Amino acid sequence: MKRPLYLLSCLGLAALSMAGCTSSSTSTSNTDTNTNAVADASAKEVALTEAQLEKARSNYATYCSGCHGDQLEAFTDRKWKRGNSAENLFAAIKHGYPDEGMPAFDQTFSDDEITGLVAYIQEGIQNVKQYDFSEEATANAVYTAEALRYRLDTVATGMEIPWGMAFLPNGDMLITDRNGAFYRLPKGSRQLQKIAGAPQVLAQGQGGLLDVELHPDFAKNNTIYLSYSAFKKEGEQTLSTTAVLRAKLEGNKLTDAKVIFEAQPWARTRHHYGSRLEFGRDGMLYVSVGDRGQHHENAQTVERAPGKVHRIKDDGTIPADNPFASEKGAIASIWTIGNRNIQGMVMHPRTGAIWTNEHGPRGGDEVNIAERGKNYGWPVISYGINYNGTVLTELTKKEGMEQPLWYWVPSIAPSGMAFVTGNRYKGWEGDLLVGSLRFQFLSKLKMDGNKIVSEEKLLKNIGRVRDVKMGPDGYIYVAVESPGTIYRVVPVE
Ligand code: HEC
Repeated sequence: MKRPLYLLSCLGLAALSMAGCTSSSTSTSNTDTNTNAVADASAKEVALTEAQLEKARSNYATYCSGCHGDQLEAFTDRKWKRGNSAENLFAAIKHGYPDEGMPAFDQTFSDDEITGLVAYIQEGIQNVKQYDFSEEATANAVYTAEALRYRLDTVATGMEIPWGMAFLPNGDMLITDRNGAFYRLPKGSRQLQKIAGAPQVLAQGQGGLLDVELHPDFAKNNTIYLSYSAFKKEGEQTLSTTAVLRAKLEGNKLTDAKVIFEAQPWARTRHHYGSRLEFGRDGMLYVSVGDRGQHHENAQTVERAPGKVHRIKDDGTIPADNPFASEKGAIASIWTIGNRNIQGMVMHPRTGAIWTNEHGPRGGDEVNIAERGKNYGWPVISYGINYNGTVLTELTKKEGMEQPLWYWVPSIAPSGMAFVTGNRYKGWEGDLLVGSLRFQFLSKLKMDGNKIVSEEKLLKNIGRVRDVKMGPDGYIYVAVESPGTIYRVVPVE
């Protein structure tokens, strides 16, 4: 692949002697001040050649990666303390912030070399610019993706943060709101109806009423499942955990409610609960539980439930063929380990495999297939960077740990996901849809068998996408936050 020349504004950069910036000099000396050159240069741009970029890349690897991580992406997904203009970066590298542990490099590098590093870092930052969408998805406007024209219909409003959606056999929709409310949207209506009997939830941080899933035999037994943040007082503290409630839906009331799953141990944190619910073709209920922000304690040990996918029977008991069911001290419901925070889970309509997506630390969001007993590596391997002056992990791969099928750097903060089924969406058949909370779009991932080959960004600037589902009518439904809105994606001729 050919790399375009990188253009860097010289404006305000001290003493540039790089070709294209100064009027005459081709020197690469270490001389520090040449105010004339700066004045001359101020309106022009630096074109870095491939060779200069290569030099910068190698300087970065030698001098910077030890602290900032060997993926340049460390810089694409950070909160800049002092700005990320060329001037800011130049000053940071040249003079350092010794009090904070950032060494000065004025003795190590010429200004040219520093400029090269600045360009190199800024090129990395461009990575995040792909999400600076100029368009804004609005209801009724017509869009095109892969030759398919579509528009957005507003299906329902009036929620705060619609977290999960499920469709009843009669076409009614069930919607959870993270604030604890549980709704029915009757087919063809725009008027939400409240369903009584949802569990008490701790609607703080990332917690609240989370996913909703129907029993595969709902038509016969009216049984549904809700995942949520359960809480309890212990002395002065309020502890919480991810739990699953099973109940019967009778009219707009839940009856025979029973808690069939609670992730142990409970924690004081208010984030990384997961959680999605999905029935597999095997009739088992898969439950994702986030690491509760305690990755070192939780994610890699089978003695603790957080940071895992769990697999239970429809009544909450443990299937005998679970991978750790007979291991001493292990939590028998565990299906996979090493997961950070899974907020998207869907059964593949053809293979029956359980697909997941999870949030990476800062960068490194992943798509995986949750396979029996496998280790997805968190926090030992990750494509993300925990940038707080420390590198979280140097490793992206390790024997015995799964590689993601796809990952995003920077993080898009993935939410619900769905495979495009049916024949309403010409050219999109089989594609995987993933919502983005952070960059407020719907990601459409092109599949080749179990491989993801490319990404297309739909519904740009639509708002924080929380869930996406295929409806029984063959339409794609998208739930967006604040103001809570459910849209339907409708192809147009
Ligand atoms: C010894 C560890 C260390 C090395 C080596 C190091 N840095 Fe830093 N760097 C830091 C720390 C610590 C900070 C300040 C803390 C922070 O911003 O989070 C920092 C801050 C920065 C900033 C400012 C970030 C901001 O938010 O404003 C830039 C730019 C930067 N470093 C670039 C580099 C480059 C380029 C190199 C290699 C030439 C490098 N650093 C080498 C530790 C290091």
